[in-house]
Amino acid sequence: MKENNMLMWDETLFKESDVFELDYLPDYFPHRDSQLNAIRYALKPAIRGGRPLNCLLFGPPGTGKTSASLKIFDELKEYTDKVLTVKVNCQIDSTRFAVISRIYKSVMGVAPPASGVSFNRIFDKLTKKLIDVDKVLVVVLDDINYLFYEGHADEVMYSLLRAHEQYPGSKISVIAIVNDPEVIYGFDKRVSSVFLPEEIEFPRYELSEIKDILDDRIMRGFFPNVVTDDAKDQMANFVNESGDLRVGVDLLKRSGLNAEKRASRKVEIEDVKKAYSASRSLYITRMFANLTDHEKLIIRQVADTKEISAGDLYEKFNAETNIGYTRFYEIINKMISAGYVTADFSGKGSKGRTRIIRSAFKKEELADLLKEK
Ligand SMILES: Nc1ncnc2c1ncn2[C@@H]1O[C@H](COP(=O)(O)OP(=O)(O)OP(=O)(O)O)[C@@H](O)[C@H]1O
Ligand SMILES: [Mg+2]
Repeated sequence: MKENNMLMWDETLFKESDVFELDYLPDYFPHRDSQLNAIRYALKPAIRGGRPLNCLLFGPPGTGKTSASLKIFDELKEYTDKVLTVKVNCQIDSTRFAVISRIYKSVMGVAPPASGVSFNRIFDKLTKKLIDVDKVLVVVLDDINYLFYEGHADEVMYSLLRAHEQYPGSKISVIAIVNDPEVIYGFDKRVSSVFLPEEIEFPRYELSEIKDILDDRIMRGFFPNVVTDDAKDQMANFVNESGDLRVGVDLLKRSGLNAEKRASRKVEIEDVKKAYSASRSLYITRMFANLTDHEKLIIRQVADTKEISAGDLYEKFNAETNIGYTRFYEIINKMISAGYVTADFSGKGSKGRTRIIRSAFKKEELADLLKEK
């Protein structure tokens, strides 16, 4: 006989499981007011039919950049029909042709011919349409770093940002989204002279903010009193290790499923602990996809050892890459500030104090990712 505290096979803990999907856009979007206001300010000219300011949204994974841009798009649609909005996921559309096709499809309602038509022809039709219907176009280039990998970033930006020179009356602006703001220094002069964006930083969330956001999601997604306080605290602490809210949302879902699996009416601490390694690998995969090859190499070299002095690491790194000291230090400092490695002074070493570098990841955690390389 089933006891009272056991879940029946046709019962569920989830009131609304959609809220744990990663593309879910929450109504409650706290702790990002200053960022949302900065985007509103930049886009305001569009309401009166003017060309908006360009923006650069930057910050670590899972800090709400993509969601914030989509929230603003929703708001805009309520205020005006003068503005067309398109979000391009550059990880998927990573060439000039793919980006413009995506925009074209959204504006024209049909996809451009897949072959036999040049970029210029498509861009020409698109821009003339915008002028014709007298609309402003705001393009989100999400994860714009992917446009650099195949060398398409300059062409895309140049076309969009200088469209009004070639097609007077066209009004296009860009919201570029990226983890690492240094990426934009990679644009050539033709782009950087016109891309002077409003820079909007998305810092990682603090513990209290994480708790607040998770509580709201729990309230919407689970039936009342399903998640124990201990489980909530455990989740918030886990998420706080990386500050990546994506891990939190995934953790909620997996913890709930784990509790259901053992037919429990409560999500307990053990369900969260069990779920964590899968959720964390989501974060690590995401983080890793955004690193350059040199950054990946350093992370791997550090994770290969329990600890390594900065000098020894430099020698190892230099042996494989031939990269000099200054650049090495730039990369390692970046990895330290991102929290992917830590550095402590050891107090020993021939020239005084030595920096000891340790990995924030276990070797096994990186193993699968590194196999791909
Ligand atoms: N302030 C917030 N309130 C509620 N949910 C949030 C908030 N910030 C982020 N989230 C949630 O966290 C998850 C990750 O957010 P989002 O995808 O916007 O992050 P991101 O900054 O674009 O990350 P990445 O750089 O990895 O693309 C989403 O599920 C989103 O709903
Ligand atoms: Mg994003």
